[in-house]
Amino acid sequence: ASPITVASLAAMKARGERIAVLTCYDATFARLLDEAGVDVMLIGDSLGMVLQGHSTTVPVTLDQMVYHTACVTRGASRALVVADLPFMSYATPERALESAARLMQEGGAQMVKLEGGEPYLDTVRLLVTQGVPVCAHLGLQPQSVNQLGGYRFQGRDHASAERIRHDALAMQDAGASLLVLECVPQALAAEIARTLTIPVIGIGAGVECDGQVLVLQDMLGLNPGRAPRFSRNFMAAGGAVREAVDAYISAVREGQFPGPQETAY
Ligand code: KIV
Ligand code: NA
Repeated sequence: ASPITVASLAAMKARGERIAVLTCYDATFARLLDEAGVDVMLIGDSLGMVLQGHSTTVPVTLDQMVYHTACVTRGASRALVVADLPFMSYATPERALESAARLMQEGGAQMVKLEGGEPYLDTVRLLVTQGVPVCAHLGLQPQSVNQLGGYRFQGRDHASAERIRHDALAMQDAGASLLVLECVPQALAAEIARTLTIPVIGIGAGVECDGQVLVLQDMLGLNPGRAPRFSRNFMAAGGAVREAVDAYISAVREGQFPGPQETAY
């Protein structure tokens, strides 16, 4: 199968084919996910919680992200590899450019992701001008947990929904090629996915997005008692890791994930 590119993700959206995304932090899983046909692998800064045991993503460093990105790209041949810019690594546009350069040149990432809207439009424009594809991340922004006071659902009230709507369009206009929406109401995510031409990937955002993303360890049931309500344990049916990943990809493609029980909460 030919490698997934920014253009092929856009084409999938245009054809109405849902995009299956999973986080990945190492070469073993990268090979397995790649063979299973996952479209995008995200080296999420969630690795700070999943691999490092921190309670937030704030302690994750750029060096650590570069290291894990390099591990994943050695195992990926078809999937598009997206790496998170960690906390503070994009505090200024110049810093974002240097950080993205490391993730791409040392890590082999094909796209970088950053959390935030309006204040980061110049940063996105600069990155895109320099040939760095960008994924924007709106809704719940875990790097801001110390400001938010917890991992709270976003976009419930009118003002918050308006801001997310506006930021989504502004990010697309600034040149972002992908958007992640985390923990926002299904109707809002659906509306944004319909409005934007770039693919919208949801997590805790309902089934009407152009694709879904989950943390790999959550969907493998490896975080008992800790997995978020919007996740699903694809290992629960028994069997093997590969079967669970296959089941996830099928469920996303067929619009069977997330279901109502993973959306309304
Ligand atoms: O870090 C991460 O895993 C993420 C996804 C949950 C979108 O940002
Ligand atoms: Na992240």
